[in-house]
Amino acid sequence: MTAPSAFQASVLTLFPEMFPGPLGASLAGKAASDGLWSLETLDIRDFARDKHRSVDDTPFGGGAGMVMRPDVIDAALHQVHSNGRPLIYLTPRGRLFDQALAQDLAAAEGVTLLCGRYEGVDQRVIEAWDMDEVSVGDFVLSGGEAAAITVLDAVVRLLPGVLGSAESLTEESFKEGLLEYPHFTRPEVWDGRPVPEVLRSGHHKNIEAWRRDQAETTTRSRRPDLWDRFVAAGTNKKG
Ligand code: ADE
Repeated sequence: MTAPSAFQASVLTLFPEMFPGPLGASLAGKAASDGLWSLETLDIRDFARDKHRSVDDTPFGGGAGMVMRPDVIDAALHQVHSNGRPLIYLTPRGRLFDQALAQDLAAAEGVTLLCGRYEGVDQRVIEAWDMDEVSVGDFVLSGGEAAAITVLDAVVRLLPGVLGSAESLTEESFKEGLLEYPHFTRPEVWDGRPVPEVLRSGHHKNIEAWRRDQAETTTRSRRPDLWDRFVAAGTNKKG
């Protein structure tokens, strides 16, 4: 049997100097040095065709801002994108990124990420390449780069061999559709605040029940949207 080949991420951006950024440190940085994934950054400006190296132009129909040209993006994609890999355009107009999508991407052989700037990318190249438009949240960033870093961070930690047993995936937030329970460490009393008694009891069944209750209570109050989905799936204790 041959070893699975490393996950290959390709990022198209007007700001290649923003990469690897946080992905070069900590878990993702170590995983890259260990050969578990690799990052290729393409400068979109290198694919501009005119002498001014222009990558954007004014919008048809008028309005503020500039739009990234389809011919320039298309040329960059022809160089870097391999079919069979997901192709994602980061935009606040996209569907929301979540843990399920992170898992899907981690199961692929790699991903191509297009970072928008200005008002966005000409719609025709989005359609011609059948891009998956993805947003990291209901707010507007100054460009897709921070969003691409967020997506890659969430994906890389799910790749086989990246997390050691110390950072296990088994109980983390969203795993079961719930937010995680709260954590405590020494000292037992800090600033007049004791660690909850049950966690010091050594009674594993009670600890498990307390954590489960905390996870459900927190999810219900902070994220009614997640709670409703969780209840619909039929695995809750609170009803
Ligand atoms: N570009 C600008 N804002 C964004 C967002 N919220 N998600 C993805 N890409 C973006």
